[in-house]
This record gives sequence, structure tokens and C-alpha cells, in this order.
Amino acid sequence: KKIILSGIQPTGVFTLGNYLGAVRNWKTIQDEYRCYYFIADLHSLTIQIDPAKRRQQTLQAFALLLACGIDPEKSLIFVQSHNPCHAEMGWLMDCCSQFGELSRMTQFKDKSAKHPDNINAGLFTYPALMAGDILLYQADYVPVGADQTQHLEFCRDIATRFNHAYGEIFKLPEGYFPKAGARVMSLQDPTSKMSKSDTNPKATISILDEEPVILKKFKSAVTDSEARVCYREDKPGVSNLMTIYSAVTGRTMDEITAEFEGKGYGDFKAAVGQSVADELRPIREKYAQLMQDRAYLESLMRDGAERATRIAAKTLTKAKKRVGLLLEK
Ligand code: TYM
Repeated sequence: KKIILSGIQPTGVFTLGNYLGAVRNWKTIQDEYRCYYFIADLHSLTIQIDPAKRRQQTLQAFALLLACGIDPEKSLIFVQSHNPCHAEMGWLMDCCSQFGELSRMTQFKDKSAKHPDNINAGLFTYPALMAGDILLYQADYVPVGADQTQHLEFCRDIATRFNHAYGEIFKLPEGYFPKAGARVMSLQDPTSKMSKSDTNPKATISILDEEPVILKKFKSAVTDSEARVCYREDKPGVSNLMTIYSAVTGRTMDEITAEFEGKGYGDFKAAVGQSVADELRPIREKYAQLMQDRAYLESLMRDGAERATRIAAKTLTKAKKRVGLLLEK
């Protein structure tokens, strides 16, 4: 079976973007592939938050994955920091990443512009840690949203470089993107990505939002004055809503245009909101249930950590040998 690996940061409740761009795909491919999914808590250290809150968010993110349909019987789910191989591999990756290429990462540039008071080294070497995550498991495919493309490209570059310097060891991973939803945009500014860290709550749908909240946010989504539902570059608001509707219902853009021919944006927005509310309801219910059973979550985490460490240690040991670290006898 081909190997799938992906991660998500535990910085707040997942957005509809996280869900449609990544996590929903994670669920649908579990039967077909060998899947490893993790909570990227080491990556989240690049942003400062209260430690108690971080712990809570990690537990919540783990429960959210299960609530979204990631099945621990089918997929291996774990917390990144529970497997020490990630940090160790990250250092090996750091040492073959170049300052120049890391400086060109758009996410680094965006995040350092947003947090000028905390441009830490972790933020800079973030893509190297991520490359290590992927290469440790010899992943064939990495299901992510479009915003991770540059990081994936970087991972392939490092793997190629490492293989060239030390002999073939890493498989080159490929991205795996959803047909619709690889890039879900803000409901208030459809030219920028929907993001957990958006300060305007109306811009983002959280996957735990209640139905009335969801409907209201879609109702106030920014569109345009043409009142025609069609997918066009100069209609980013409407196109984004169509993308969401298409991702949730499986309908094509042409079908959606036909469905709302002669109707106003009011009907269209209500339909999109309803489809999203219906999609998210079972997730919210399952999540509430899971959070009641902390012992269950913790036992899954322990099991995941142990299995993930066993798998990752094989590649890590090989890589350490290849670079010439003297292994303990
Ligand atoms: P993170 O936590 O920012 O996002 C998790 C996943 O959600 C996708 N995503 C989106 N997709 C569509 N539209 C959006 N508006 C949107 N916002 C987020 C992201 O593309 C991602 O797939 N660096 C990663 C975490 C990571 C990782 C890894 C991923 C660490 N190591 C190894 C894959 C493999 C990140 O910050 O994701």
C-alpha cells in the first residue's frame, strides 16, 4: 500500500479551510492507503501562546481529527512531540537547508510580517522540520491544501539533495489535493486565505460553529453587485462560495450556476450555508462526545506515539548512519 502522511497545527479549532483542504481528504483515503496523521505541536511552538492553552488545544485537535472521521482502527494518529524522532530528524534537515532557500518561503515572509516581534529561528526553519516529518515515514502522498505547495517542493528538494549526497534513502513525496477546496478563502476578504488566526470572526467558519452562526456568516459573506452565480476571476467572493458548495455537495460549477439561474445571492448564500451546516453537524456532535472521554483519547495517543516512534526510528537511524553520526553500540 502507498503511504500517506499529513499534519495539522493545534492552534485553535480547525476552519472550514482546514477541513475541505485537508482533513476531509484524510478521511476519504484511509481505506485505500496506509495513513499517518499527526498534530503538529512542535510547529505550533513558533507562535507564542499560553502553555496551558496549548496543552488543551492539542487534546482538542486530536479529538477533532477523530470527530472528522479519522478512524484509529484504520489510520495511525499521534502527537508530533510524542515521537522524538521528529525533532531529531528536524536537526538533520536543518543542516542541509540553505539560508537563501528558507528566506524565499512565502509563509515565512507572511508570518514574520504578521509577528514582527517574534521572528524566531523556528519560524525560519519550519519547512525543514516539516520535510523531516514527511521523509521519516517514506510518504508517497501528502494530502494538504494549496498553501503547503512550496513547503512540499522544499521537502522534495532536500530529499533529492540528501539522496545525492549520502545515497538513495528518501522517497520523494507528492502532494495530494482535493478537486475543490484546496484553497478556501476568507468570507470577508475573498482575496486572502481563510485562516484560524483571522481576527474578524465573520471571516472564518470554525468546524464547531453552530448552525445559526454558520448561516449568519454565509449571509454576510462579501460578494459583488452583479447578482449572478458564476465562477469568474473578477468575482472572488461568489467563486469562493461556489468552491465551498462544490466541495461539500460534489456539484460542478456549471451545475451550481444552473441551479441558481434567475435567483438572487440571498438564496445562493442560504443554500451554501445550509450545506455546510449539514456537513459539520455530525462532527460537532461527535466532538462533544469524545471530549467527555479523556482516558480514551489519552490511550489512543499513547498507542499512536509508540507505533509512530517505532516506524520513524527506522528511517532516522538510517539517516544518522548515512551522515556519519557514530551510533551507539
Ligand atoms: P496548518 O495547520 O496550517 O493547516 C492544516 C491543513 O489545512 C490546510 N489549509 C487549508 N486548505 C484550504 N484552504 C484553506 N484556507 C486552508 N487553510 C489551511 C493546509 O494546507 C494544511 O494541509 N505546515 C502544516 C502542518 C504540517 C504538515 C507536516 C503538513 C507540519 N508537518 C507534514 C503535511 C506534512 C500546517 O501548518 O498546516
